[in-house]
Amino acid sequence: MAFPVNLILTLIFSLPHLSSASFTPPDNYLLNCGSNTNASFSTRSFLGDSSNQASTFLSADRSISLSDQNPPPNSPALYHTARVFPGGSSPQSPAYRLHLTTKGTHFIRLHFAPFKAPTFNLNSAKFSVSVNGFSLLTTFTPTSSVVVVKEFILKIDSPVLEISFLPSKASTFAFVSAVEVFSAPKDYIIDQGTKRVVPNSAQIFSNLSSQVLETVHRINVGGSKLTPFNDSLWRTWLVDDDYLLLKGAAKRAWTTHTPNYQSGGATREIAPDNVYMTAQEMNRDNQELQARFNISWEFPVGSRSVLHLVRLHFCDIVSSSLNQLYFNVFINDFLAYRDVDLSALSFHVLASPFYVDFVAESDRDGMVRVSVGPSDLSNPARVNAILNGVEIMRIVSPVSSKVGYGKKNVVWIVAGSVLGSLVLLSLLVLCCLCFCRPKKKKSRTKRSESTGWTPLRRFRNSSISRTTEGTVSSNGYQTLRISFAEIQSGTNNFDKSLVIGVGGFGMVFKGSLKDNTKVAVKRGVPGSRQGLPEFLSEITILTKIRHRHLVSLVGYCEEQSEMILVYEYMDKGPLKSHLYGSTNPPLSWKQRLEVCIGAARGLHYLHTGSSQGIIHRDIKSTNILLDNNYVAKVADFGLSRSGPCLDETHVSTGVKGSFGYLDPEYFRRQQLTDKSDVYSFGVVLFEVLCARPAVDPLLVREQVNLAEWAIEWQKKGMLDQIVDPNIADQIKPCSLKKFAETAEKCCADYGVDRPTIGDVLWNLEHVLQLQESGPLENTEEACGDVTGSGTTARQGLTSDSNTERDSGDGTSGIIDSSQVFSQLLNNAGR
Ligand SMILES: *[C@@H]1O[C@H](CO)[C@@H](O)[C@H](O)[C@H]1NC(C)=O
Ligand SMILES: *[C@@H]1O[C@H](CO)[C@@H](O)[C@H](O)[C@H]1NC(C)=O
Ligand SMILES: *[C@@H]1O[C@H](CO)[C@@H](O)[C@H](O)[C@H]1NC(C)=O
Ligand SMILES: *[C@@H]1O[C@H](CO)[C@@H](O)[C@H](O)[C@H]1NC(C)=O
Repeated sequence: MAFPVNLILTLIFSLPHLSSASFTPPDNYLLNCGSNTNASFSTRSFLGDSSNQASTFLSADRSISLSDQNPPPNSPALYHTARVFPGGSSPQSPAYRLHLTTKGTHFIRLHFAPFKAPTFNLNSAKFSVSVNGFSLLTTFTPTSSVVVVKEFILKIDSPVLEISFLPSKASTFAFVSAVEVFSAPKDYIIDQGTKRVVPNSAQIFSNLSSQVLETVHRINVGGSKLTPFNDSLWRTWLVDDDYLLLKGAAKRAWTTHTPNYQSGGATREIAPDNVYMTAQEMNRDNQELQARFNISWEFPVGSRSVLHLVRLHFCDIVSSSLNQLYFNVFINDFLAYRDVDLSALSFHVLASPFYVDFVAESDRDGMVRVSVGPSDLSNPARVNAILNGVEIMRIVSPVSSKVGYGKKNVVWIVAGSVLGSLVLLSLLVLCCLCFCRPKKKKSRTKRSESTGWTPLRRFRNSSISRTTEGTVSSNGYQTLRISFAEIQSGTNNFDKSLVIGVGGFGMVFKGSLKDNTKVAVKRGVPGSRQGLPEFLSEITILTKIRHRHLVSLVGYCEEQSEMILVYEYMDKGPLKSHLYGSTNPPLSWKQRLEVCIGAARGLHYLHTGSSQGIIHRDIKSTNILLDNNYVAKVADFGLSRSGPCLDETHVSTGVKGSFGYLDPEYFRRQQLTDKSDVYSFGVVLFEVLCARPAVDPLLVREQVNLAEWAIEWQKKGMLDQIVDPNIADQIKPCSLKKFAETAEKCCADYGVDRPTIGDVLWNLEHVLQLQESGPLENTEEACGDVTGSGTTARQGLTSDSNTERDSGDGTSGIIDSSQVFSQLLNNAGR
């Protein structure tokens, strides 16, 4: 094994980081309050707020410098003084005015170290704190003599930051021991695509960076306490033991190697090395536990049913190679992230840090519960789940993006809360629209109340249903809506023996309709990975498009809380089952080419057809189905609608698509384009040629990923060595050469270097021609002489796509009927 060399190299290259890793914030105010001298605290020096250098910062006229005559031994000098704001002072005058050089997200930390002085007992202080008119703390009072540090993360769009302290009553007072204000690293809080954890549905929480966040917990799971010494943002990370629900379920894991930070993943500023170098994993040695169990932590957050940002940190330090670890993440018992695949999420580099943000509500007991447990994808021999770190931040309240600095703070307090309530109000109205409106119209919705799919009612009277119901499709179906009773009887009441597939959406049954049409019935289960949005998008897309090489929708059913899609039945099943892993006779090379050409045509239609650019997002050999005559049709559009605009802008959200087929550029740029489909299609081409899975974890490392492995052989000019032996002697050299070049180009690292699917189609047609009428020898001129036939092929393609224009044109209006869908369907990635 070449491991030691790698490790040594890793160590050598990571050493310089250790010394140079420090973050220098553009704005960096550190104030030692109530003092005229500097105080050093961990690695930093805090400037006395009544020193000359700070004279412009402190602006409250009636504040008092207070010092502790009897500081506890060994207590930091920073906490020996405090600034006190006696009651009765005007709220208009801010205590501190700090000029900022950069707008954007800042950290604000307020230290409160109460002590007793003859004039003031700081323990009896009671006050509020606001920043630029926005209230951070209300009626805050210290608990005994414990030092409390409150940390807030918020976006400041004004050049001045003002902190005001306001005693709760005229008879009391406010105080502060130290203040930190510094710029957060760029993109510390990302706006797009944070998943809101709610049962059985996917919602996106946007504008996270405009929220005021208050840190409630910051935990180094499985590790030791980390102090500001150990953290480039001077954070403190506590150990997780006190929060573990069942200590016996977890086992500490750690590594001595520095994490393999990858660009696009987490950075040292997101969390320090030590967070990623330790974790808790499933304690599978514990005989008292079942084979599958969760590790759970419960974090008291002090507020009930309040939104929190839950940031989870991961780094696969428990696997010995890639693709060993798959697990699920739950927040408050709701599935937050299914089948986390750290290998894929962290750029196929082991032990590279990754983090993901969720927005979730604390429960009625004021708890946020985080669980990790094995996924269905886990290899039974290697069932495991890990967690390296957790941060929980309360979303204090939405801030208006327009908040600048006002002349009168009071105005801003009012404006802030009015805007806040406006946002709340519109959310409420939205909720009512979503959940209540159709209730009045249909009594039957009552029955589906208890299921997770109730939001479907929102669309019950929408134009989607109307349009589809009224559609007379070319297949002669008067209506696409099919009754549950008909489906039930057509599938023998969902007889398990009729199951022909299981997907993220649910089970697929073979069935028949009243008129004896054979159909495939895809029945969603509540809580399935794909939920309502996929269901609706599939209906929307499929009713809009009809094409010989796309599996067509026969109908759908949404009765009694069922979500069922009915498709034309494809006798021969998925392409994959004709390549390997089944008893089907192997397809000939010519058949395989025809299948590839058919699938490319279907995809070409999706990308460029009369509807509009649609990205499939999950092209793979199990999504290319064959009918009785081995005509290929592309299936499973459940994922296709999500253009990059909604939930794919940031890697921290659920990456959809299938491992092994996923466009590597998608990870780098987090942007999905039609070239991502081309990449996946290239992997299918190699799969067709070599008859092996896109990813085979059982193989030696360099063979695990088919695309990488095949391209290695192709670069050596020896791809013929790994061609499926069943067809090796049928393939003409020129045909192989052209095919291999095409597949390789599809799998180019960068989307711009990949051909369009139209070019791929043209090339595949050409490969078929070379196979049928090309020379037997692989000579430069023989294979190179393609002009004549190529032109023919291209003309063929053009006329083909014209004649196969869809019959669903008339329904294209339905897209505009829903803003959601118009967004979803846009191929904005181009
Ligand atoms: C306190 O620190 C500031 C910089 O933070 C420095 O300019 C100043 O000289 C220091 N004062 C003393 C008395 O050391
Ligand atoms: C998000 O913030 C941007 C700019 O700050 C604003 O234009 C947009 O309306 C906000 N969106 C929501 C949903 O609040
Ligand atoms: C954190 O920093 C302190 C002080 O430098 C050091 O003693 C300790 O070992 C560090 N902890 C870790 C886990 O690196
Ligand atoms: C893990 O926890 C979730 C949420 O509470 C639960 O639904 C799931 O069944 C648990 N998994 C196991 C294996 O116990």
